[in-house]
Amino acid sequence: MSARVHNFGAGPAALPLSVLDRIQAEHYDFAGSGRSILELSHRSPEYDRLHEAARARLLRLLGPARLSDEPQADYEVLFMAGGARTQFSLVPMNLLQPGQRADYLVTGRWSELALAAGEQAGLARSIWTGKEGGYRAVPTPGDYRVGDDAAYLHYTSNNTIYGTQFPSIPANGSVGGGIPLVADVSSDFLSRPFDMSRHALVYASAQKNLGPAGVTVVVIRRDLLERTRTGLADVFSYRAVAAKRSLLNTPPVFAIYVVGLVLEDLEARGGLEAADRRNRKKAELLYRAIDRSDGFYVGHAEVRSRSRMNVTFRLDREDLEAHFLEEAGNRGLVGLKGHRSVGGIRASIYNGVELASVEELVALLDEFRSEARS
Ligand SMILES: Cc1ncc(COP(=O)(O)O)c(C=O)c1O
Repeated sequence: MSARVHNFGAGPAALPLSVLDRIQAEHYDFAGSGRSILELSHRSPEYDRLHEAARARLLRLLGPARLSDEPQADYEVLFMAGGARTQFSLVPMNLLQPGQRADYLVTGRWSELALAAGEQAGLARSIWTGKEGGYRAVPTPGDYRVGDDAAYLHYTSNNTIYGTQFPSIPANGSVGGGIPLVADVSSDFLSRPFDMSRHALVYASAQKNLGPAGVTVVVIRRDLLERTRTGLADVFSYRAVAAKRSLLNTPPVFAIYVVGLVLEDLEARGGLEAADRRNRKKAELLYRAIDRSDGFYVGHAEVRSRSRMNVTFRLDREDLEAHFLEEAGNRGLVGLKGHRSVGGIRASIYNGVELASVEELVALLDEFRSEARS
């Protein structure tokens, strides 16, 4: 195998090596079928087993079973195509009844787009935006008020571009247990323990923590599913997709297969608590290197809103940033250029990024600073 780099890309992102090895090992003959997974019907028993195993494993990792005695009774997992952006539209199309309105917390570019899709599909409004503050922080509960009549409250749990993250689940009003909470969890799903029972619906495109691009996971509470809007074309309807176990039409078979392997790997490595410990450690190392740099590196996010998945920072001159990225490339550290709308540096340290990669980056941060200042 040729040398692998340290991949800090924001997505599609690093996958565990053990998963890549497994894909390679099973490539020509999946599950004794004599065919590659790429050549296998989505109606075959071999595929069906992996499809169901991935759905069950995801629910097990999330632990919503504690809501009732019957495991997996309360939530349905959907595998859909079209990326998270398609969900920006499908959420309001399915959840907003005529005349109903949804409330949105706008904490970055992706939630701006989610709000815009909500406005296009029905009635939606922003009840808090961090735009004027350069999206450096997420709101605290007292910063906004959810409308008592809102059909749902939408938030983005981790802001991939700006490097901010909700440290805990945002408050969702007090009426009857709260307004149904909907979250775009694309860039921090399964990176830490997650209280699914506080959410009505979450969605995540796979290409950060879950697998390759091509599939989006939707987890929806069953009672909400049963109340979704009727009259939508089947391919856009959560209810229709759920009724066919996400096999309404050909699903992204390969992507779902890899998601299944990533979930298996995550479970084998201790589940979400263990992932959280690994991710905290990686993030702490990086933020410590930024904080001890005496202003040489300046983090974008306010400390209380710092993301453990995307660490964003600037150097005080653009030419220094270019030089930093060049030096990183020379050391095999790639994917570090910040998003075009914020500039600077962004290190994405999803589940698939190993501690050793972060240690290499920290060494570069320290050495580059010492050299630039000497
Ligand atoms: C938080 C978040 N939401 C949505 C998206 C859009 O995802 P997709 O490209 O799968 O539509 C991204 C992509 O990076 C993201 O980070």
